[in-house]
Amino acid sequence: MDWPQSICYINGEYLPLAEAKISVLDRGFIFGDGIYEVVPVYYRKPFRFEQHLARFERSTREIGLANPFDRAGWLDVVERLVAGSTAEHQFIYWQVTRGVARRDFAFPADTTPTVFAMTSPFTRPGAAQRDGGLKAVTRADERWLRCDIKSVSLLGAVLARQFAVEQGADEVVQFRDGCLTEGSSSNLWVVRGGTVIGAPRDRLILEGIRYGFVAELCERTSLPFEVRRLGQAEVEGCDELMLTSATREILPIVSLDGRAVGSGRPGPAYAKLRAAYDQAIEALR
Ligand code: PDD
Repeated sequence: MDWPQSICYINGEYLPLAEAKISVLDRGFIFGDGIYEVVPVYYRKPFRFEQHLARFERSTREIGLANPFDRAGWLDVVERLVAGSTAEHQFIYWQVTRGVARRDFAFPADTTPTVFAMTSPFTRPGAAQRDGGLKAVTRADERWLRCDIKSVSLLGAVLARQFAVEQGADEVVQFRDGCLTEGSSSNLWVVRGGTVIGAPRDRLILEGIRYGFVAELCERTSLPFEVRRLGQAEVEGCDELMLTSATREILPIVSLDGRAVGSGRPGPAYAKLRAAYDQAIEALR
């Protein structure tokens, strides 16, 4: 493979990404037993770092994994990686696994967590996606029942995204028991009658850092905001559909299962939120 040239952090060392190695007995490799984060960096400044760290801490707590660093420790890793890259915008990926141990399902005693972090250049979504919108397809949500944990066990997300790709779509719109949950790696937003509606923040979705951000942006732009369960018919008959994630920011979904969403063009709620999103990013300059 063609390795990115960036450095990474692995268990106390900073190395070129191609030189970082972990054991084949690492529980992240064997069981997917770990937690990760993806933090966008704009103008070389981490965006909403505190919120990402708080989510990470919560996830590690939920699976009984010790967080190896305090706030200052994580910030130091993030800042060093950012400094080691020339990219103006980046995203930091970090993950911690339960470490290296003989293969046994239950937690090993006295194992040191494996800590890995890397940075990648971040190409922000371009005009084609922002102005043209994305295509999505509906799918039954077949993931586990703790989607609120940002686990590195991502097979459910991998299969969901592949399902979309095989149909020429960019993302899935998933439903569990007839109600909207989220995309494969994004939160979803439905607009009906001018109100922006999101799925409840329960165990069936990952609460994106952009989830709270969207709520704030709705307030700033005077868009009514609501959180409730949404049935499939309500989603299919909505005026606008959007997704948010660290890497896709906020993007409109203009086609669902090959049918136009609303007018089939990015709508007015999206336009307002997009402008407010960009304004928040530009304030970091
Ligand atoms: N994924 N829901 C799921 C299942 C996700 O994987 C993500 C993000 C989100 C949005 O969260 P945030 O706004 O904090 O990015 C929602 C990241 C980008 C990833 O796995 O690459």
